[in-house]
This record gives sequence, structure tokens and C-alpha cells, in this order.
Amino acid sequence: MKSILVTGGAGFIGSNFVHYVVNNFPEISITVLDKLTYAGNEQNLKGLPEDRVQLVVGDIADKEEVDKLAQEVDAIVHYAAESHNDNSLIDPFPFVQTNLIGTYVLIEAARKYNLRYHHVSTDEVYGDLPLREDLPGGGEGEGEKFTAETAYNPSSPYSSTKAGSDLLVKAWVRSFGLKATLSNCSNNYGPYQHIEKFIPRQITNVLSGISPKLYGEGKNVRDWIHTEDHSSAVWTILTKGRIGETYLIGSDGEKNNKEVLELILELMGQPKDAYEHVKDRPGHDLRYAIDASKLYDELDWKPEFTDFKDGLEETINWYRKNHDWWKAQKNQVEAKYAESGQ
Ligand code: NAD
Ligand code: DAU
Repeated sequence: MKSILVTGGAGFIGSNFVHYVVNNFPEISITVLDKLTYAGNEQNLKGLPEDRVQLVVGDIADKEEVDKLAQEVDAIVHYAAESHNDNSLIDPFPFVQTNLIGTYVLIEAARKYNLRYHHVSTDEVYGDLPLREDLPGGGEGEGEKFTAETAYNPSSPYSSTKAGSDLLVKAWVRSFGLKATLSNCSNNYGPYQHIEKFIPRQITNVLSGISPKLYGEGKNVRDWIHTEDHSSAVWTILTKGRIGETYLIGSDGEKNNKEVLELILELMGQPKDAYEHVKDRPGHDLRYAIDASKLYDELDWKPEFTDFKDGLEETINWYRKNHDWWKAQKNQVEAKYAESGQ
């Protein structure tokens, strides 16, 4: 493998993956296909060598564009998506268009040119789990984390379109022999994450003198992983994974939202209770938790950023230092949330 097409490579996780590959695998050249929606930013690829990374601004649902680019690469790693649950509750259509139709166009091109294809998905396709405190034995028993065998049960327009895209890929593997792998990862944090998302929203709220906003009681649990670990896991699956297999990616980072917010406040020198409770998200998934043992045992992967407090502190510092990267969007993001009472 010498050249890969990375869709959504100007977004949060996609751009971190591009940096990861450039920094670790000098033989690989990358074409990024990104529509540069509100969530994509050319600046995320700034400083990368032009002879190794090319940005093509375009839509993954554009069959001609995808067909042209597919002829020039050995593999496709598909990150591009409409990715925010709250937006999907306001207007689901772009989610259907990009996440379903866009994926269809990409897998058809991968089939036509017999390319290796990796599909980046989310743990949200499995729906949610009960809180540990509501489970006998504190939730340590079998079936109390997601595995690749967990039945699909998505809750939101976002997660249902991601689930649908996974199913398209699985069907293309079985019916057409598509050389695909899939991964379903838990919540990422780190640099370049759009400020509509929970962690950067609260960090930039504090930096802007706005009070942080917690949905409901803040009991909902997310299984946090540093985005650099997501990148190394995707690379491992792309290069060592078995065709047709799904690998779950996680690093045992379960925390409820209140705990995460309190830690952000502590690290930013604010009182622990300096936030507001706001209206909860409709259909809000309660808990996500990943059993990543298949990835550990079969592909010998392990996460490196296992200290959440250190990773969070580094992330806070990134937003402090990169004020220009986010400040122009802050008012608009908060105005949109205010319309939903959040
Ligand atoms: P993001 O919203 O930050 O970035 C998405 C990128 O896709 C943007 O650069 C955007 O411009 C681009 N894009 C959107 N529509 C496009 C289209 N039609 N054609 C071309 N480009 C388009 O998203 P993210 O958080 O970086 O997520 C990336 C992927 O990882 C998504 O598939 C998401 O479902 C998955 N994922 C995210 C998380 C998470 O915690 N954020 C966890 C697991 C999986
Ligand atoms: O699990 C993986 C998923 O993680 C990805 O597939 C999605 O693309 C990604 O956006 C993320 O989804 P979540 O809905 O979990 O992430 P979000 O950052 O929107 O919210 C995290 C939690 O924080 C969730 O329980 C809602 C809550 N929240 C969010 C915001 C924006 C708040 O309490 N306050 C907020 O202001």
C-alpha cells in the first residue's frame, strides 16, 4: 500500500489520522477528499508536506469525483460524515445524504477498482447500555459492554445513518467480495475537535466567560479515548485486520458527563460547580462502553494515552493556544444551542 484516500480528512478525527500516518509511515501518500462543511477546516492539515498530502475539496456523494480519485489510490479510509447528534435532531437530511448515499458511492468505487476499504464507524450503532449502578455486580458481567456481536439498536438520526452505512459495507463484503474492514469506536477527544462537541464546547465556554452547559443531570456515561489512539487502531486494522471483520476500538475510559465537566473546571482553575444544567437531549443515550479485547488479542493493539487527566489537560492547552482556530465560530455555535434551550 502506497497511497490512500482519506475521506473527511479535514475534520477532527480524519485530520488527526492524516497527521498520524504522515508522522509514522514515510512511504505513504494521502489524498484527502473533504467537502469542508462547517466541521471541516483546511487549517487542520496545515504544515503537512505538500508532496505527501493533497486536499481535494469535494463531496463523497459525487460519483464522478470519487471514481476519478479511486483510480489513483490503493485504499480508502472513510471518515467523512455528518457527525453531531444534536444537529441530526434538528435536520436529519444531510445525515441521510452523506452517511448513507456517500458511503454507497465510496463502496461502489472500491468494488469497481478492487481497493482495500476501511469503514470508520461508531459505538452508537449499538444503542445504549444501562448505567453500571443499575446493574447487578456493578456492570462487570458478560454482555455489559458492546462487542462486535451486540445487536444494532441505534437511537438518533445520526446513529441510525451510521448503522445503515455499516450494513451497506457488510452486505458489499458478502455479496460482492468487497475487501473491507469496519471499526466502531467510542467518544474521541483531543486537538481539532469542533467546538459544538461536549469537551471543546465546555473548554471554550470557560475561555469565553460563558458558563458550561450540562445536559440533564450529567449521569450519561461516555467511554473516552484519545484520538491518537483511534488513529493507531485504524492503522492497525487497515494493515493487519481480517477482511469482513468488525473491530471495536476503546481504551476503558468510562466517565459520566458530570465527572468530565468537573475535571475540566478543576484543570482550568474554576469552582467545581461553575456550570448550568440545561435541557436534556431528546432520546439521550445513557451509557456507552467498549469491549476492545478482539483488537487487543487478535491484532496486538494497545492504547498509549491512558491517563485521561493528562490527555484532557493537553487538550485544554491546545484550545488555549489555538484561540484563532475556534473563536470565529463560537457565537454562532452558542446561538444555535440557545435556540434549543441548551
Ligand atoms: P467531524 O464532523 O469533525 O468531521 C467530519 C468531516 O467530514 C469534516 O471535515 C467534513 O467537512 C467532512 N464531510 C462531511 N460531509 C462530507 C461529504 N459529503 N463529503 C466529503 N466530506 C464531508 O467528524 P469526526 O468527529 O471527526 O468523525 C469522523 C468519523 O468518525 C465519522 O464517521 C464519525 O461517525 C466517526 N466517529 C466519531 C467519533 C467521535 O467521537 N467524534 C467516535 C467514533 C466514530
Ligand atoms: O460514541 C461515539 C460518538 O461520540 C460519535 O459517533 C459522535 O460522532 C460524537 O459526536 C460523539 O457523540 P456524543 O453524542 O456522545 O458526543 P457529544 O460531544 O455531542 O456529547 C457527549 C455527551 O455530553 C453526551 O452525553 C451529551 C453531553 N453534552 C453534550 C454537549 C454538547 C452535554 O452535557 N452538554 C453539551 O453541551
